[in-house]
Amino acid sequence: MRIAVNIHMMQISTVKLSLLLLSLALGLANQAWGASEEGMAMAINLKPNMYNGLVIFRVCAKCHYEEGWGQRNGIFPQLAGQHAKVIIKQLVDVRDHNRESAGMDHFAMLKEIGEPQVLADVAGYISSILMTPNPGIGAGTDLGLGKKLYNQYCAACHGRNGEGDNDHFYPRIQGQHYRYLLRQFKWIYRKERTNIQPGMMNAIADFTQQDTEAVIDYISRLKPPKEKLAPSVKWKNPDFE
Ligand code: HEC
Ligand code: HEC
Repeated sequence: MRIAVNIHMMQISTVKLSLLLLSLALGLANQAWGASEEGMAMAINLKPNMYNGLVIFRVCAKCHYEEGWGQRNGIFPQLAGQHAKVIIKQLVDVRDHNRESAGMDHFAMLKEIGEPQVLADVAGYISSILMTPNPGIGAGTDLGLGKKLYNQYCAACHGRNGEGDNDHFYPRIQGQHYRYLLRQFKWIYRKERTNIQPGMMNAIADFTQQDTEAVIDYISRLKPPKEKLAPSVKWKNPDFE
């Protein structure tokens, strides 16, 4: 997909009032998985405007890069190819302080762009970007154990190949950077990240450090389907040419 952007698409300021009303409406969100459902419900049913999504994504690209690949060291996660509903949920969760986020403040940014249509636009755009063929991976020493644990404890929700599920808000975790996944897993395990389904908390309750590294290493090496993958590490997002 190639999109030409022009200045007429810059309509961000016109959404501020509706955003304010939305945040007032959502002001009482609880700390739990699914607490923001009401706010999400608006955005997930809207058809994304890809042009507007690209305009917004230019802001995100400062950290997540123009290809949406983040960094192999996992400081910035790959966003490219993530399910639109997952992205919307994460953004709404961050905005509502239902997912604390280190090293950044999406919250201030979302105050500007948090209107449901804009969330739908940026999420729709991001989900369409091709993914990196070269994510950060682990040591590769325990992949047998990782596979066994994955199939037993994770595949039921995240899918046999880590593909996730848009309709059920299960993140695509295949081919995500090892260090990002590891960080999230640890925060989830220690209940420092709270927007998590109880079912996942149960699944990981007895995981040791070795189990954790093994399963995350295995996940980082799971390959996204070919049509979602960039043809080479040199691929550049054509929308930024
Ligand atoms: C200042 C840098 C920065 C900017 C700008 C930024 N992000 Fe992020 N983003 C991060 C970091 C760092 C994380 C990882 C946070 C963590 O570890 O919990 C992140 C995480 C995320 C996640 C969670 C990913 C996941 O797999 O759950 C989403 C979704 C996201 N960003 C979307 C966006 C969007 C959309 C924009 C633009 C509107 C944006 N970000 C702009 C730094 C940034
Ligand atoms: C009962 C369903 C379920 C099970 C089982 C489950 N997860 Fe999850 N997982 C989820 C959901 C839902 C999320 C997204 C939570 C949210 O809304 O933020 C998630 C998020 C994650 C994340 C953060 C992804 C990101 O992009 O930030 C990681 C990493 C993860 N899971 C790993 C695992 C691993 C490894 C296992 C198996 C040991 C597992 N999960 C088992 C449902 C599950």
